Amino acid sequence: MALYSEKVMDHFRNPRNVGKLDDADGIGEVGNARCGDIMKIYIKVENDIIVDVKFNTFGCGSAIASSSMATEMIKGKHIGEALELTNKAVAEALDGLPAHKMHCSVLAEEAIRAAIKNYYDTHGISYDPAMFPEPHDEEEE
Ligand code: FES
Repeated sequence: MALYSEKVMDHFRNPRNVGKLDDADGIGEVGNARCGDIMKIYIKVENDIIVDVKFNTFGCGSAIASSSMATEMIKGKHIGEALELTNKAVAEALDGLPAHKMHCSVLAEEAIRAAIKNYYDTHGISYDPAMFPEPHDEEEE
């Protein structure tokens, strides 16, 4: 079996939603201290719906594929739904990632959550801080 699924290769070679939003309502940037990869996600929000999303990922192929898939999964969705997106759901949508690459999908989950938190913070929207636990730094294997 190939190490990477067709979907991973497709989203790596033709990533969707690459770039930045100059008029973003929220920006989330996260990194993984071990591998040094960095992911930045921009969201545009209207009436609690994520109407546009872009990403810039300085990282491995799995991180790029995860960002691409994750942005596709939250585009047009309610913020509440985007907050529930897990790295496992992203990895499943990619037809799986090798175990030692699961942490790459964690970055996508964390970047989306960071962007939503930034949206709340910059727009004076109150929320329960427990919704945003500190990102974990260890490898998810
Ligand atoms: Fe670190 Fe993929 S190796 S995000």
